Formats: sequence, structure tokens, C-alpha cells
Amino acid sequence: MTMRATALAHPNIAFIKYWGIHDIDLRLPANDSLSMTIGPLATRTRVEFDQGLFQDALILNGDPISGPALTRMQGFIDRLRQQAGKAIYARVTSDNNFPISAGLASSASAYAALALAGTSALGLKLSEPELSSLARFGSGSASRSIPGGFVSWQTDPQTQSSFAKSFASPDHWRLCDCIAIISTSHKAVSSQEGMKKASSSPLQAARIADTPRRLRICKQAILNRDFATLAQVVEQDSNLMHAVMMTSDPPLFYWHPQSIALMQAISAWQAEGLPVTYTLDAGPNVHVICPQVSADKIIHRLRQFPGVLDVIQAFPAGPARLTQDDSQV
Ligand code: DP6
Repeated sequence: MTMRATALAHPNIAFIKYWGIHDIDLRLPANDSLSMTIGPLATRTRVEFDQGLFQDALILNGDPISGPALTRMQGFIDRLRQQAGKAIYARVTSDNNFPISAGLASSASAYAALALAGTSALGLKLSEPELSSLARFGSGSASRSIPGGFVSWQTDPQTQSSFAKSFASPDHWRLCDCIAIISTSHKAVSSQEGMKKASSSPLQAARIADTPRRLRICKQAILNRDFATLAQVVEQDSNLMHAVMMTSDPPLFYWHPQSIALMQAISAWQAEGLPVTYTLDAGPNVHVICPQVSADKIIHRLRQFPGVLDVIQAFPAGPARLTQDDSQV
């Protein structure tokens, strides 16, 4: 007997970042965060629970995977099996339509798609908050790739419930994330590993204490479509997270010289009156955010910028969803 389902999910870019774990077993983040789900970048994942299998298998972009990536996925599928009360192995086939080697976050869309396809194949019917809550055990940021549009991930310290929900639809604001690829090599320290050291930085406590203020400003700027306010808080939040990374023990430097040159250029473009801002995750690539009407101009400049290898355009996108289509994403 085979039980199968296929799901598609988009990555997300955080405007207010999650960095640090408050409770490792419950996977509770040190701070609430806010993001935009982005497409057409997507992961499509098919999960088949098959009684004929003797172990779990993962095929990623056509290649069979072993080692830590398989072990991490097995840990997540164990949780699904436990929830469904079923002991049956799974074959997981996952494809991305964006280069995962380009250092773009793929764990968010990967675990969002896996949570939806896996639970659905097992016959578990979860609500969107339940799915988001579950996805965070695969990857924290995956909780934010279950809903679409503009999303906030909050934890209630009393009940310890922790899930993301949408507060504005994808068509609320036509923003563009022009992702400037600075390096395509894999990062030396993963987010999961790096953020375990966050509390060793004396700046982390101040970053966490100030997060409610930044979240409030960011959410209101999105609701008001106020780009100038959004730009200021998004840059400050990214710089705060990188300041924590650089002052952790051992220190983590994700920026490359070209990343810094581009951030400085963006400040000069702002001084010219261009509506544009930047944010960087745990890597050197620069997410250059602007209104869609300015995107062509910004992309033209990015393509000419020394050290920018490629530019990938992304826009606000919808929630994770089941799909009948088993073709390549
Ligand atoms: C810097 O939850 O994506 O992107 O599970 O290692 O993939 P992994 O970590 P993840 O960490 C996200 C860290 C961040 C900031 C953010 O997206 O909020």
C-alpha cells in the first residue's frame, strides 16, 4: 500500500529576523519575526509512504541524498509518523526551481512543502496554524512559508504555542526582492548551528529587547505601504542581526567585501531618491527590496555592479498548497 501527496511551497525573506533559540526541544525562537513569502521561487515535494520500503529515501533535484540532510529529514518524518500513529517508511522527492547551491534559503520552502505533503499523505488534516507550528521543527523559518503574503511568526510565552500567520495578502503591496548573488558556495556555518551561539554576544539581549518595537514599525509600514519607514527598519534589523553574529563567540562573518560595497551603493541610491533597501540572511547574498515599479532600474544597476554574479527577481507569493501535478517544478 502507498499513501502519497505532493505539495508546493515558496521561500520567504525575513524583514525582522529570527536569530537565536529560546527552547531547543520545543524549537521556540528567541524572538518573534516577520517576513514576505516569495515566488516564483518554489519547492515541490512528493511524499510516498510505502510499505515496500525498508528505509526512508530522499531524492533532491534528481540526486539521492545521504548523510546529515537525510538524517535531519528522517527526524522530521519520525514526528509525522508519531502524530499519525503509523510506522511506515517514506520516499521523498523534492525539486527546487531556484539554485539551492546559490546560497538561497531552501530549508524554509523545503520543510513547509514536506510538512504539508507528509501530513496529507498520512491522512492528517491540520489547520494552517497547526501546519506552521509543525513545520518549525524542520526549520524555524519554514513556519513562515506555510502562509502567503506578509507573515508574522509569534510565540505565546504562556501557552508556548508558536506559529506564523498572514496579516496581508500577496497583492497588498507590489514589492520586489531583487536577490543579488554574490557567492554560490555553501555557507561554512548553517543558520541552525550559528544561532546556537547568539546568546554569547552581549548585543543579543539588546536586539531581543528592542524586537517588539521593530516588529510594530515594520508591520505598520507594510499595512500603510510606507516604503521609507520600511526601508529604515529593515536595514536596521539586518544590521542588528549581523552585529550579533560578528560579536558571538566564535564570531561569524557572513558578509563578503562585495556585500558591503553593495550596501554602501544602496545608501547612495537612496540619497538620489530611489526607493530601495537591503537585507541579508546568514550569507553574503544581498536581498535588494524595492517597489515593483522601480525594479527594472534597480536590476539594471545590480547587473552592472562589480561582484554581482546574477540577479534573481521574486515577488510576494501565496501559501503552501497541495498540488496534483507531479511534474518538475
Ligand atoms: C538568518 O530557521 O532557516 O534566515 O533551519 O538552519 O534553515 P535552518 O535555519 P532557519 O534560520 C533562519 C535564519 C535567518 C533569519 C530569518 O529567516 O528569520
